[in-house]
Amino acid sequence: MDEARAAFHIGSIPVHSELILAPMDGISDAPFRSLCRSFGSGMSYVPFLHARELLQGRRKSLALLNFQPDERPVVYQLYDNNEDNLSRAARQLQEHQPDVIDINMACSIRSISARGAGAGLLRDPRKAGKIIRRLSSELEIPVSAKIRLGWDADSMNYLEVARAIEENGASLIAVHARTRQQRFEGKADWDAIAAIKQEVGIPVIGNGDVRSVEDIGKLKSHSGCDAIMIGRAAIGNPWIFAPRPRTAVPRQEVGAVITLHLESMLRHYAETHAIMLLRKHLVRYIEPFSLPAPLRERLLTACDLPTLRDELRQAGLADPHPGV
Ligand SMILES: Cc1cc2nc3c(=O)[nH]c(=O)nc-3n(C[C@H](O)[C@H](O)[C@H](O)COP(=O)(O)O)c2cc1C
Repeated sequence: MDEARAAFHIGSIPVHSELILAPMDGISDAPFRSLCRSFGSGMSYVPFLHARELLQGRRKSLALLNFQPDERPVVYQLYDNNEDNLSRAARQLQEHQPDVIDINMACSIRSISARGAGAGLLRDPRKAGKIIRRLSSELEIPVSAKIRLGWDADSMNYLEVARAIEENGASLIAVHARTRQQRFEGKADWDAIAAIKQEVGIPVIGNGDVRSVEDIGKLKSHSGCDAIMIGRAAIGNPWIFAPRPRTAVPRQEVGAVITLHLESMLRHYAETHAIMLLRKHLVRYIEPFSLPAPLRERLLTACDLPTLRDELRQAGLADPHPGV
């Protein structure tokens, strides 16, 4: 694809779609990211990694670094409350040749944010800016940040944070338009995304409350953001990146995509683990079909491949082209 048709750029890196799969720990692994890329997601965020754990060489952290060449541009995301850890971990990650390093300033999990990492960084915009400046000067690839609107309703400092991020050298900002206090509930504030887009010159990715193809257009026109990040609404629904309404996807096609997804997971994980991880997706793939409760239960508890394939067949979700 040529540069001119890029939806936006991260530094000099073109991104060819304005729809982006959100980083989701435990969900957006390499198989799911690749699947969503093939449907139209423009880039891949690898879910967050704890800088300190990465430096300690934890095997779980290292396994998460794998990505497929067709996922590029690839973003590695780090969280920590310590600037030195972030700097050292980012330099280590750079050796795995991602396209971008992102600092998570959005995670609301208490054990992370209360220590001043994730959304905890929003409480100290100077420190957030300093981290971005340090990484921007030390790395050879672009640096970005994913933020929320503030710690709580009384400290909505997103404009100050967005400015600090841009002024200190970041090339991209993603905004989950809720406060840390809201976690994943309450209405996302799209006016705030619009205000950030007005405030900064770097590309802005808007995120929050995009549940359908219709919402994509609504957020885009409401905020003028450069791209739209989709998380939970993409689970069991990679078609949203096409973009195509889920209701327009025939059952047979859903079956074919479940098989593709499963095959990809089997290449990535041992069989039992792949089947267990697929369940989080499967529950959403089958949501629109009112399957009889016992069949649904058997599908979501199948522990081996022959049983899972048999239950999929019974649900009318078998691969129409077996062996592919
Ligand atoms: C299971 C789960 C895991 C998540 N993990 C991450 C993560 O690793 N890094 C991150 O920045 N955000 C993470 N998020 C937040 C999402 O990226 C996104 O900002 C949030 O879900 C709001 O978007 P949505 O309404 O489209 O889901 C996670 C969300 C969920 C539901």
